[in-house]
Amino acid sequence: MAKKILVTGGAGYIGSHTVLQLLEGGYSAVVVDNLDNSSAVALHRVKELAAEHGDNLSFHQVDLRDRPALEKIFSETKFDAVIHFAGLKAVGESVQRPLLYYNNNLVGTITLLEVMAKHGCKNLVFSSSATVYGWPKEVPCTEESPISALNPYGRTKLYIEEICRDVYRSDSEWKIILLRYFNPVGAHPSGYIGEDPRGIPNNLMPFVQQVAVGRRPHLTVFGNDYNTKDGTGVRDYIHVVDLADGHIAALRKLDDPKIGCEVYNLGTGKGTSVLEMVATFEKASGKKIPLVIAGRRPGDAEVVYASTARAEAELNWKAKYGIEEMCRDLWNWASKNPLGYDSSPASTN
Ligand code: NAD
Ligand code: WQD
Repeated sequence: MAKKILVTGGAGYIGSHTVLQLLEGGYSAVVVDNLDNSSAVALHRVKELAAEHGDNLSFHQVDLRDRPALEKIFSETKFDAVIHFAGLKAVGESVQRPLLYYNNNLVGTITLLEVMAKHGCKNLVFSSSATVYGWPKEVPCTEESPISALNPYGRTKLYIEEICRDVYRSDSEWKIILLRYFNPVGAHPSGYIGEDPRGIPNNLMPFVQQVAVGRRPHLTVFGNDYNTKDGTGVRDYIHVVDLADGHIAALRKLDDPKIGCEVYNLGTGKGTSVLEMVATFEKASGKKIPLVIAGRRPGDAEVVYASTARAEAELNWKAKYGIEEMCRDLWNWASKNPLGYDSSPASTN
């Protein structure tokens, strides 16, 4: 029997890529998403890409905080595990609207955990973030590095991590894997699914992508006076397909009887500057990205990259792709879907 996985936020960027790999890996996936920051078209396309496995996907347009709706889903299906992506993730918006973030991310997660416990499903993989390393004193960031938060979004990740540790301490039947993602970029190599942010993108590569297709005139580089190779900020960019693969590895790890509440970095271990990333994208796309150098963005760290040792040793997972593949696949998606899922003719809905 195929293992049944509930995927919250499965219509979103990382979720849709992970759902595809679940289906291809022989799992059955039930997605719960309120489509607040995503489109049902992404899931139609996942179904098509999954070909004969596509029938193992079902979707409920439900907000996680809607307890009766969630209860109904859990009473209809016995899940082997939950992968919990659903959450709001825009750092700037979280500063403007902290209560929205605390309500959505914390109440959503608490409701999910309560319903899981009630239905005897105590296996969880949660999307945490490298944001919990704040401005790291030392790199690479290891899972033992001090954690802190620089904004309400980051605090929701910190609090949820702590809630998960407390839940495990209270009941050792739980098995919880907290995955701290570094900077996911790129798209499925088909160019059929990818990232489609609403409004002005907050993150570097979605912004670059919109400049490349002519939706924005230039990229603003936030600071060129950092103590880095070219003065711009350094991050650990990871291909979204590698990241999705990390979730399959985490699900397998849940079968290990020895695990409790564990944390793993998902990154490549390599640091890349803003200017290096832009140059690699220009090469992959043949497009010139006009730059405007501006001051530092408040709350930005100088250099952040992962130690990958624990994930390699314990999850048996390692990122395969580099920034060339990330930029190539990002451009493939962007050029086929310049307006994201609203673009035609690739759109199926
Ligand atoms: P995304 O916005 O594309 O996906 C999140 C999905 O959750 C969306 O489809 C949204 O509609 C849904 N959602 C939000 N609140 C919901 C609720 N209350 N009920 C039901 N559905 C809800 O974001 P993503 O980039 O795919 O990120 C997935 C997860 O990974 C998030 O938790 C995010 O914080 C975390 N994360 C993302 C990054 C990144 O840079 N993309 C980095 C680290 C961690
Ligand atoms: C990368 C680099 C910017 C935009 C954020 C969240 C983090 C995680 C990943 C969810 C930095 C520079 C960016 C632009 C720029 N998300 N930049 N011009 O800040 O590492 O992390 O996304 O958990 O929580 O904070 O990613 O892509 O925003 O920035 O120069 O228009 O690009 O200053 O050096 P970041 P990012």
